[in-house]
Amino acid sequence: MNHFQRTLGSLHAEKIPLDGLARAYGTPLYVYSAATLRRHWKVLDRSLSGLRHLVCYATKANANLAILDLLARMGAGFDIVSGGELYRVLKAGGDPHKVVFSGVGKTDEEIAFALSQEVKCLNVESGPELARVSVVARRLGLRAPIALRVNPDVDPKTHPYIATGLKKSKFGVSVDDARRLYGLAAGDPALDVRGLACHIGSQITTVVPFLDAIARVRKLAGELSRAGIQLRHLDIGGGLGIQYKDENPPHPDEYGAAVKGAMKGFRGEVILEPGRVLVGNAGVLLTRVLYVKTSGRKRFAVVDAAMNDLVRPSLYGAHHDIEQVGAEPRPAGTVDVVGPVCESSDFLAQGRKMPVPEAGDLLCVRSAGAYGFSMSSNYNARPRSAEVLVDGETAYLVRKRETWPDLVRGEKARPAGRRFPAPRRIG
Ligand code: LLP
Repeated sequence: MNHFQRTLGSLHAEKIPLDGLARAYGTPLYVYSAATLRRHWKVLDRSLSGLRHLVCYATKANANLAILDLLARMGAGFDIVSGGELYRVLKAGGDPHKVVFSGVGKTDEEIAFALSQEVKCLNVESGPELARVSVVARRLGLRAPIALRVNPDVDPKTHPYIATGLKKSKFGVSVDDARRLYGLAAGDPALDVRGLACHIGSQITTVVPFLDAIARVRKLAGELSRAGIQLRHLDIGGGLGIQYKDENPPHPDEYGAAVKGAMKGFRGEVILEPGRVLVGNAGVLLTRVLYVKTSGRKRFAVVDAAMNDLVRPSLYGAHHDIEQVGAEPRPAGTVDVVGPVCESSDFLAQGRKMPVPEAGDLLCVRSAGAYGFSMSSNYNARPRSAEVLVDGETAYLVRKRETWPDLVRGEKARPAGRRFPAPRRIG
């Protein structure tokens, strides 16, 4: 359920017509619905009632400060994967004590920042990282709260680029390595073993892989407990899918019930790291049709949003529904919706059966709230789009559109040089 619905023929975000937003703020434009986000949060959180749990929103899905602020106010924790994401969470008023820090490549600087902010846990992804965390913690005179991210070797049956829990993936450590590393960590006074984490992938559309993964990590947790290492929490990651097209992902209630069943008897806290299921359908991308051109038998709608604004179709072949915002009658046809970027992979839809738009029409690209703006770039020297958050009848400009001067900030055509003289050879 989301609050992007058609009223009197025209698509709205909550109470506001999308064409009004496009006129006021320009296009391409990301529009988020606060009511949808709140609703998604409540549905997921409620589905876990009775279970001691903490929902740590996966910041990478959409890291706009207003989104983080809204979630923080509802009690969310945050899953972060960089120092920059921690900076954003803190800026938005997020509680560092509810932050878990994942990622295979944490730098010393990021580890130190996270420790000094007293984050809840570092999800450590390798032996060498465990050693670095220990060194940095000792240097700061702190004890580092850690979990090992275990790779349960479960196939989430999703796009290969977003499957993370397979043996061949770069993420986490194997169950065997985890046993050894927990032993090391438990004997290290600079490390405070708190929990165990796993995350098997994204856009997962059945509960089965989650249950497999939980069963495997619970088995390991049981072994550790018998060996005297008591885990205070189990972090089961994110990954619950949403409907983009004809997928039929489990409703959060079904997911929540399955998680509760699988965690029965676990006395600690359960941490979840959902991203997409919270924000995916809480956002759309508005784009204006610039030209309609035909080439042989193909028909292209050239729009003002491109792969730099929403890369998912180009990168994963992802489907996003595209709808006409207005109610103008348009004949049905087959269209490639493409952007202005100079790459043949720059498309938002290929061979799409849809009403054939005309130049000037406004299109709404749905399900763009997750991994939309957060993956956008300045490729082809395109300023990144503005972002608007709608709450009822009010729209908030939560990120200004970038300008051309923004594009060159920090650059200099002819900076003063700095010499690095070669060391003199003696003899
Ligand atoms: N936790 C960890 C450690 C993760 O790596 C991710 C996502 C999540 C949680 C959140 O997963 P979610 O609930 O959003 O599925 N750019 C891709 C998705 C990449 C996901 C990366 N990790 C896409 O646009 O489909």
